[in-house]
Amino acid sequence: MHEDVEEVLISEKELQERIKKLSRGISEEYKGRCVTLVGVLKGCVLFLSDLLKQLKIETNVDFMMLSSYAGAQSTGVVRTILDLKQNIEGRDVLIIEDIVDSGLTMNYMLKNLKTRGPKSLEICTLLDKPSCRKARVPIKYAGFVIPDKFVVGYGLDYNELYRNLPYIGVLKRSAL
Ligand code: IMP
Ligand code: MG
Repeated sequence: MHEDVEEVLISEKELQERIKKLSRGISEEYKGRCVTLVGVLKGCVLFLSDLLKQLKIETNVDFMMLSSYAGAQSTGVVRTILDLKQNIEGRDVLIIEDIVDSGLTMNYMLKNLKTRGPKSLEICTLLDKPSCRKARVPIKYAGFVIPDKFVVGYGLDYNELYRNLPYIGVLKRSAL
């Protein structure tokens, strides 16, 4: 375990098993269709790549980068830093996110992507932290519901660190 991590909340094995199940559900739901996965950078990278490898359907991958966080604090104002390269009009779009916390980022994403006329638009998030919700967002697929703790690892960062940890962990107070 990393020396700054107080507790492993979700182990590597638990992550991989849950992602296998999620990918089965998604492959079933979108059978015979092509799904456009829209990854939200940078937190989505490990989740998206592990999920992608398991999908048994035709896929298309694109990315967006948004910003509202500075350190462990959300600023509440969401901005687009990097936009999609593809046109999603008439496409089945599945947003791939690391964590839904206040819900403000996903609320912004949904509003923004809806204006582009996708055939369908759903959210798949690895983690759901419902106790901090400020905006209601319909989550179609969630890997794990977690308590109100700041977590890192498996793509999630604290000041750009810890994304490489293969598990989801809670940071020690001294590291924050
Ligand atoms: P929201 O807009 O408050 O729902 O936050 C969304 C984004 O904030 C997520 O996509 C994460 O990138 C980041 N975030 C929220 N909670 C955490 C956390 O516990 N650890 C690391 N990043 C987080
Ligand atoms: Mg994110």
